[in-house]
Amino acid sequence: MSTITKYASAGRATAAVFALGLGLGMNAWADNHGPDKTYNFGEPATAEDLKPFFSPLPDGRGLPKGSGTVMQGEKVYQQQCLACHGVNLEGGIGDRLAGGRGTLVNNNPEKAPVKTVESYWPYATTLFDYVKRAMPFDRPGSMTDDEVYAVSAYILWKGNIIEKDATLNQDNLAKIEMPNRNGFKPANR
Ligand code: HEC
Repeated sequence: MSTITKYASAGRATAAVFALGLGLGMNAWADNHGPDKTYNFGEPATAEDLKPFFSPLPDGRGLPKGSGTVMQGEKVYQQQCLACHGVNLEGGIGDRLAGGRGTLVNNNPEKAPVKTVESYWPYATTLFDYVKRAMPFDRPGSMTDDEVYAVSAYILWKGNIIEKDATLNQDNLAKIEMPNRNGFKPANR
């Protein structure tokens, strides 16, 4: 065996050992990082955990149990909403919430449409969902379901959509016919 061959085979042996090492290393890496790897921490999300991410549907499915009257809602509004939305829902830091009916479609280019819950929103369930998840602006998610039913009732009463003695709950909210309910065309997709 010539010296050159000796070196060459030693080189091959080194390369083989290196490749073996790399192979083992890769196997170990795959064991820890493959798609089937479990990390042994965390836990499956429960239905309760996922709840904040689902909206009730326009037909009322998914609304939580609860109820609230216009008069209870007036108190909630005064304590938690008025500062931003105004004494008469006319808006301020927050949007105007009532009025504007009939302004969405007109032929006067100088009259901008006034979009409010009263004039624009097609479903009362959206009002519940939005307030429940996004309001009060500085403390979203802090209200009970009863408070949200109540303040929704108050806003709908101020928008002349329901009567002053109304009580809203999970069964009747979706039945409210919003003024602009038929003002939307379904997207043709
Ligand atoms: C700190 C100020 C603040 C408070 C308090 C607050 N809001 Fe708001 N509200 C806002 C702002 C700002 C917006 C606009 C948010 C946006 O467009 O992202 C808004 C938007 C809304 C809208 C949507 C209006 C639209 O036509 O898009 C509703 C409904 C609403 N608020 C209801 C309430 C109710 C009910 C309360 C009390 C429980 C409340 N807000 C408390 C600031 C406030």
